[in-house]
Amino acid sequence: MSRAKNRKGPALATLTIHGARDAHRPGDPVVEPLVQSVNHLQALGTGDGLKYTRYGNTPNAERLQKRLALLEGAEASLVLSSGMGATACALLALLRPGDHLLSSQYIYGGTHRLFLEEFAAMGIEVTLVDPFEPRSFRKRMRKETRAVFVESPVNPTCRVIDLRPISYLTKTEGLALVVDSTFASPVNFRPIEHGADVVIHSATKYLNGHHDVLAGVVAGTQAYIDEVLQKEMLWGQTPDPFALWLLERGLKTLAVRVERANATAMAIAEWASARKEIKRVHYPGLATHEDHAVASEILDGFGGMLGLELAGGGKAAERFLRRLRLVTHAPSLGGVDTLVSEPRYTSHAKMTSAERARIGIPDGFLRISTGLEDLDDLLADLEQALK
Ligand SMILES: Cc1ncc(COP(=O)(O)O)c(C=O)c1O
Repeated sequence: MSRAKNRKGPALATLTIHGARDAHRPGDPVVEPLVQSVNHLQALGTGDGLKYTRYGNTPNAERLQKRLALLEGAEASLVLSSGMGATACALLALLRPGDHLLSSQYIYGGTHRLFLEEFAAMGIEVTLVDPFEPRSFRKRMRKETRAVFVESPVNPTCRVIDLRPISYLTKTEGLALVVDSTFASPVNFRPIEHGADVVIHSATKYLNGHHDVLAGVVAGTQAYIDEVLQKEMLWGQTPDPFALWLLERGLKTLAVRVERANATAMAIAEWASARKEIKRVHYPGLATHEDHAVASEILDGFGGMLGLELAGGGKAAERFLRRLRLVTHAPSLGGVDTLVSEPRYTSHAKMTSAERARIGIPDGFLRISTGLEDLDDLLADLEQALK
């Protein structure tokens, strides 16, 4: 699993540590230094080479951006100050007032609000479609349509979208295909290999992996990333060097963290499938999952995220959460601590109960992000909370 399928050159685990690193000379530090300075000395008589933190070109930013591009198989990438900043700037670089965006209806709650509230107010219309019915993208396309946005695997239901028919449409119609790949991380999925033009991550999650950095990533062609950089600079979405340094540190263990999270999630999914108190388990690694065939074809790992629906609904979920001792009740995902959250109070809190139910998130749905704790300890905690 550490060498991703179809890759040439160094494996992903090697790139997370050495990708785009400067050649080392005797006496150099093994860990790249943190350069916290916001500004840098400037050459006289020219504006060339001006370095400033907000321009995304300071030493900690440049190395990390090249490394992340290598991981995604993209020409270039940009690190922004949050996943939302990444999504906003990525799309603002593609869309103008009057343009139309086709988006999967299964997207993170913050992205949903960005599209339907902020973009709508800017004159950018967004149509939500069912990505599991690929013809629906073509049916809802207009002459103003510029891009298609999907999130896969989907937060929090872990459904896996087959990009191949969608990228066939975007390529033939000249649209940009933008994929939020936060749940997968490049260890499990690299959308560009499946026809995407732009990849977005909330680096707050797996890429950093330690619950202590807020950041986002956009990857794509160099020409496109130059456009995103203009948005980042002008909308002030650039992270601080310390966040970048921490992100670079967290990234070095990405492959082992994700492989372990994948294995733990699979084991918890199997345990949960055998429990009568759990009505439904949402995990694409299970042969019974509706997207198992697609997931097996396009993913290198089924992920560290799973959803549980307790038979007793919302009340049973609350009782279960109150009894947990080790698994931590907190929002966010993709870090070393195993977390559980209720999307109705976190990522999808702004939707009504009926709206959530329509996209597969009934009240009482629990989202688990597996961390790095011992599996037996985690299973024991889940078991005692269920009793
Ligand atoms: C799939 C997905 N995309 C984007 C975001 C936004 O990321 P951030 O919180 O880093 O702004 C999140 C946050 O939970 C997410 O789950």
